[in-house]
Amino acid sequence: MKFTKRLTDAFNEQIKAEMWSANLYSSMAIYFQSMGLAGCAHWMKKQAEEELEHANKLIEFGVTRGGEMKISSIDAVPGTWAEPKAVFEHVYKHECHVSELIDNLMDVAIAENDKATQEFLRWFVNEQVEEEENAQAILDKFNVFGVHGLYCVDHDLAKR
Ligand SMILES: [Fe+2]
Ligand SMILES: [Fe+2]
Repeated sequence: MKFTKRLTDAFNEQIKAEMWSANLYSSMAIYFQSMGLAGCAHWMKKQAEEELEHANKLIEFGVTRGGEMKISSIDAVPGTWAEPKAVFEHVYKHECHVSELIDNLMDVAIAENDKATQEFLRWFVNEQVEEEENAQAILDKFNVFGVHGLYCVDHDLAKR
């Protein structure tokens, strides 16, 4: 069974969203790097790489299924935040939003009765649980360590 037009369009939208996410995290890496927070910057760079991997996973599957996969222009991403903690609040909010996008994509695969795509998308559903959890764990550290939160987080994130 080949990708339907509806599924192709939905996949192309998600590819765009994953690439936008990669740019968002690269922008956050620049923000931290310019502040001298090397650990946070390192974590963001890894995160950006992962988002590109997500985009490539979707592209490869789409091509394999005969979909007309396209790379569209990516909208600009934010470049400034009020403070370091606000960046991680943004990460958490963004990942919750991406989880919704993945759920919607799964809904399209179900509506199109494409079982193979539903199987494929399960990896992304699980990945989003991890993404939300990771962001939440960093925010928890800020809260637990109080004034030393930023130092602890930066030290910790260097190990990723
Ligand atoms: Fe992603
Ligand atoms: Fe993500």
